[in-house]
Amino acid sequence: MINLPRGTQDLLPEQTKKWQYVEEQFKALCRTYNYKEIRTPIFEHTELFQRGVGDTTDIVQKEMYTFKDRGDRSLTLRPEGTASVVRAFVQHKLFGNPTQPTKLFYIGPMFRYERPQQGRMRQFVQFGVEALGSADPAIDAEVMALAMNLYQSLGLKSLRLVMNSLGDNESRTNHRKALIKHFEPYQKELCSDCQLRLQKNPLRILDCKQDKEHPAMQTAPSILDHLNTYSKSYFEQVKDYLDQMGIDYVIDQNLVRGLDYYNHTAFEIMSNAEGFGSITTLSGGGRYNGLVEDLGGPETPGIGFALSVERLLMALEAENLALPLDEALDCYVIAMGDDAEKKAVELVYTLRKAGIQVDKDYQGKKFKAQFKTADRLHAKYVIILGEEELANDVVNLKEMATGKQQQIKIDEIDATFKRFVQGGIN
Ligand code: HAM
Repeated sequence: MINLPRGTQDLLPEQTKKWQYVEEQFKALCRTYNYKEIRTPIFEHTELFQRGVGDTTDIVQKEMYTFKDRGDRSLTLRPEGTASVVRAFVQHKLFGNPTQPTKLFYIGPMFRYERPQQGRMRQFVQFGVEALGSADPAIDAEVMALAMNLYQSLGLKSLRLVMNSLGDNESRTNHRKALIKHFEPYQKELCSDCQLRLQKNPLRILDCKQDKEHPAMQTAPSILDHLNTYSKSYFEQVKDYLDQMGIDYVIDQNLVRGLDYYNHTAFEIMSNAEGFGSITTLSGGGRYNGLVEDLGGPETPGIGFALSVERLLMALEAENLALPLDEALDCYVIAMGDDAEKKAVELVYTLRKAGIQVDKDYQGKKFKAQFKTADRLHAKYVIILGEEELANDVVNLKEMATGKQQQIKIDEIDATFKRFVQGGIN
């Protein structure tokens, strides 16, 4: 027997029902907020992520599924969606559209070679949005509102929106200098990655999983103390908009995010639910002014976020929330006798063409057993077709909830059935 690879999962119909439901919710919400869907390839040139996500990040250094294709090109299974969306935005010159910002959403699998555990997969599915072409703090607030809105619409309550500002270039340069000065005396005590990061990208040290407990982490200089006037005011406006919408948040000056493209607003949504597990981040995002230029486009600000469906469903479970899934089947056709069996095939086809969800037996089961199946499938209606009914060109329609039955003409079945589904049998 061959099993699936570590860190991946099969979604059987019991689960896909839930996935489809949350996907529909996300799509509906994106429609409400006027984000349009974009679909990009599962693999891209490796260079895209090296430049986009950043060479010094864990994702690029340790977690990418990178391979050479038969033409000797280095390709990578996408570890995230933002770099691809920005590439497509540049490649197709979406910046030229008269309506800006360009508001996009995506749903799809991402791949990271991480140590699998609950909530951390090697293949996981992200829902994400990206808004390109606006440096209005109101759009930062909009993206956070959309994320919170999705969780709340599914009934989640134990949520915490955590926010920070990483400032603009000038603020970051000042902060960077302060970080180098702060960590230099401890250089030898840091992990080998962080020793390299110290000069290249000291902000990454704050995100290191290995050096998390080092005492110098607690006293590291805060970016919030190094924001220049513009960055400070930008952050204040984002907060004001969230206040205006009544969305609660907390500020965490240590929130740096694991990808290099961020500046100004950075945020994560965490689950506070008991029993959620050790990884509490449900989603993350932030502003990435500069990324479009880094990938060869014109100066264009951007912001977005992504969540994984795996963690979203874990959060629902932790809060004991069931999704309102429709488990019932509209109709089950039970036939008895060879001729009725033949007619049933035609009848099922007619009903399906009329858009009615219907199924029948394909295992040669006896009448009683067919009824059992109808019950097990939660059929709302059962159509019974025996030799006698067939002789009279009628069927018996039974409403399972009430037990009420009615005879109807076989050639009026689709129209009559539709009426019943709407109003029930009187
Ligand atoms: P990220 O924080 O790397 O950001 O990932 C976003 C979300 O993807 C996480 O909060 C988590 O829900 C989920 N996730 C990440 N890795 C895994 C994993 N191994 N298993 C399960 N779920 C995972 C990004 O990817 C950015 N592209 C987000 C963004 C969009 N920023 C701006 N626009």
